[in-house]
Amino acid sequence: MTTARVPRMGSRAVLISIVVFTAMLSHQAAVAQSAVRLIPVPPPPMGWSSWNSFSNTVDSRIVMDQARAMISSGLHKAGYEYVNIDEGWWLGKRDAQGNIEVDPKAWPALAPGERAGDMANIVRFIHGLGLKAGIYTDAGESGCSMYPDLGPKYFHAGSEGHYEQDFLQFAKWGFDYVKVDWCGGDKENLDPAVQYAEIARAIARAAAITGHRLYFSLCEWGKQSPWTWAPNVGGSPADIWRTSGDIVAPIVAGNIHANRKASFAKMLSNFDQGIHPEAEHTGYYNDPDMMVVGMPGLEDEQNRVHMALWAMSGAPLIVGADLTKLTPATLATLTNPAVLAADQDSAGLQSVKVAEPAEGLQVWSKALAEPGRRAVLLLNRTASPQQISVRWSDLGLSEASATVTDAWTGKQLHTSGTSYSAGVPAGDAVMLLVAGTDAPMTAYTPSGTEETSGNNGAVLDHHPVRFTGVRSHSHMARVRITYSNPGLAPRYAELRINGQAATRIAFPPTGNGNGAGAIWIQATLDETSANNVLTFSAVCEPGPVIQSISIQ
Ligand code: GLA
Repeated sequence: MTTARVPRMGSRAVLISIVVFTAMLSHQAAVAQSAVRLIPVPPPPMGWSSWNSFSNTVDSRIVMDQARAMISSGLHKAGYEYVNIDEGWWLGKRDAQGNIEVDPKAWPALAPGERAGDMANIVRFIHGLGLKAGIYTDAGESGCSMYPDLGPKYFHAGSEGHYEQDFLQFAKWGFDYVKVDWCGGDKENLDPAVQYAEIARAIARAAAITGHRLYFSLCEWGKQSPWTWAPNVGGSPADIWRTSGDIVAPIVAGNIHANRKASFAKMLSNFDQGIHPEAEHTGYYNDPDMMVVGMPGLEDEQNRVHMALWAMSGAPLIVGADLTKLTPATLATLTNPAVLAADQDSAGLQSVKVAEPAEGLQVWSKALAEPGRRAVLLLNRTASPQQISVRWSDLGLSEASATVTDAWTGKQLHTSGTSYSAGVPAGDAVMLLVAGTDAPMTAYTPSGTEETSGNNGAVLDHHPVRFTGVRSHSHMARVRITYSNPGLAPRYAELRINGQAATRIAFPPTGNGNGAGAIWIQATLDETSANNVLTFSAVCEPGPVIQSISIQ
């Protein structure tokens, strides 16, 4: 055995070393996770959409039946609230002033004093049940009804050239949510980042006029990486953005309910394409498409896997099945409280694949708001039953003991040591809730801002706030940002890491005057570098006061 020779240092050298080391640590310290109050961010939306089950045949009667079923089935009680009208409500007709005209027979008066052909009627009906209403258009001049699933082609059913007018109209009708598709934009070869930014501005203007902001669902199918620009478009960014094509195959002909098939393989690939954890934070979500849970083509276990994947992903939970025909098993899958809570968790983070010990055997982890908590999915994508293990260290937990619960049944599972292992049937998944102790984090305060910020952090104005010398154990790091926002509305900042493309972060009000709060994001850092640089710039002033970041 050889012993490395340690050079002897004189006392002066030791002193210098201590000073340098202390200086290095002056903006870096180990911290406990529970020290700062976590500020909840808006959860992903939950609701129903007409598209999967009714295609372009949607009308007032269908929407009323579905809205009633959302109540009577118990879905609303479980948290589902949006009733979204998709393609087919409008056939491309406008009056001389450019106002959208709808078929009065499909959208009749529903109460005394109402006018047939006024979409405000169906909104009043939906609101009357205590639910929220969604509408649909296209960013191009024509929409997807120029490629109909059923019946004749309809052109001009897009909003291009009428953005301000249409989004104001949707808000005036009382809608709460708008999905903006890309069939026309795609056909015309438009730039989605440009078109959707204009739409975002139209939505912001409509909100300023009506006092009613439309939740913005951007549907460009992931073609031009919307996770890199969607949360940044215009003054009123997209809340959710599609990351892939449709799970359901188009209807070829005939009876829509019999022919609309869901595919388990396509559902899995949509899950994979929807994973962009660096973009999903502070209330903005990747959207892997409305769900096919309960539709022809999937068995009950497959529905559970699908639901678990969407919950892990923090995906919007928009049911595509016919709500009047859900089986008890499907309803139980859609309403399991622990699975829904993982999706809706107030930290708003997406799951990350933390291990794949053999091809097709995957461990996914979603960090939850409560310290030391993780939702974990053991996913077996192979054709035979397999044993899959999760180690606490893969979850960013310490070696301390942890409890493990089956998310679906609430049953506490026996565990000892620093991992848990379960047998997972072929093509199936086990969803767990793990409660342990977070591994220590390292905190950093802004560099070079001491004179202006003291110990209270740096106000984000036209000077960016920068954190330098940041280290991470992993490529995908969890970053807690401690800040204050004494205002009543969220403040925004752009974060650029190592000079890469920026992501937009919302900082909700922290309340309590200048009391600090924290939000979580996940960031791609260089784990081999001792000098990752994170730079926050204001999107508009005033910005938040950014105090520190902690890396796990
Ligand atoms: C696109 C969207 C679907 C649906 C249809 C309507 O394919 O991705 O979700 O809105 O258009 O035609």
